[in-house]
Amino acid sequence: MSFIDMLNENQNHIIPDKYKKMDRIVMEKRVREIKKILGEDLFIPGHHYQKDEVIQFADVTGDSLQLAQVSAHNKNAKYIVFCGVHFMAETADILTGPDQQVLLPDLRAGCSMADMANIHQTERAWEELQLLFDDTIIPLTYVNSTAAIKAFVGKNGGATVTSSNAQTMIKWAFKQKERILFLPDQHLGRNTAYDIGIPLSEMAIWDPIENQLIYDGNLKNLRVILWKGHCSVHAKFTTKNIVEVREKHPDMNIIVHPECSRDVVALSDDNGSTKYIIDTLDAAKDGTEWAIGTEMNLVNRLIKQHPKKHIISLNPYMCPCLTMNRIDVEHLLWNLECIIDNAPINRIQVDSATAKNAILALNRMLQKA
Ligand code: 13P
Ligand code: SF4
Repeated sequence: MSFIDMLNENQNHIIPDKYKKMDRIVMEKRVREIKKILGEDLFIPGHHYQKDEVIQFADVTGDSLQLAQVSAHNKNAKYIVFCGVHFMAETADILTGPDQQVLLPDLRAGCSMADMANIHQTERAWEELQLLFDDTIIPLTYVNSTAAIKAFVGKNGGATVTSSNAQTMIKWAFKQKERILFLPDQHLGRNTAYDIGIPLSEMAIWDPIENQLIYDGNLKNLRVILWKGHCSVHAKFTTKNIVEVREKHPDMNIIVHPECSRDVVALSDDNGSTKYIIDTLDAAKDGTEWAIGTEMNLVNRLIKQHPKKHIISLNPYMCPCLTMNRIDVEHLLWNLECIIDNAPINRIQVDSATAKNAILALNRMLQKA
């Protein structure tokens, strides 16, 4: 079932009015009380893009890879209240036991990139690509994809990747087959393949709307087929932003997430996952200057955590990821109170047939990561 179908079917996404009127201090106190009451039965993972008001309650924070790893290791919690987006909660459900419930505080917390590849488009693309290249392709999917896509990839011998391990996984994929189909983020795929030495002339784009392969040169030379998807948040960083920063702040280091376009990554000084960006800023000397090209909640947190470093957003007019931002303290409290009332809501449950294949793709990644 797609995220939109699930949202339409599930009416629990409308928060009761009482939470909108509640005082913030009261809500935070109540969240703390419930965390104490539930103890080890409750586990709250939080992605680095979550708001501060939510991240303060996370038992663990991390990038997509770390959150997948902690979900796989946690065997105790009955309730995993996932503060992140839908595909992350699906991944957690696939990696946890049948007695563990994964709950998403606001069902509207989707990911526009994950929605850019659906299973019907993917199956149709695969058929066409098999006709063009026979059995020489392996599919890889960024974890920012639906469970159905992960299952498709698992069934066809491929693996998931995150921005932390994309190089390792692409190298692994090339040991299996001559070519890769990389879903759904063309930018992470292109940036990573380029970094391991694949020229742009050996990469093509698969357009799922037109159902066609777009490339220059010789079809037989193609090695990486990039799905035409992108992150609408990282698309807001441009080469113009880089030129302006370089002009105004010649000593500034520019670090971006690899979901940014090839041109932006090429002009930056460094790129990496959210964890990589955090680690780099932690290790930087006081007095150094940084322009960061990633989601705004994280950039603002880094600015607060490093008052002795000069940190700005690469795009001064950036806003947060709107779907990540759906999770707020109101929805977190509502979700926790429903658990206390023995009526948990917003459970994310991947059907067993899908989970069985998706876990193949996830495990191939987790064994390498
Ligand atoms: P990472 O935290 O794995 O770098 O992913 C970024 C992202 O866009 C998650 O949606
Ligand atoms: Fe999706 Fe981009 Fe938001 Fe990450 S930042 S959840 S990829 S829309």
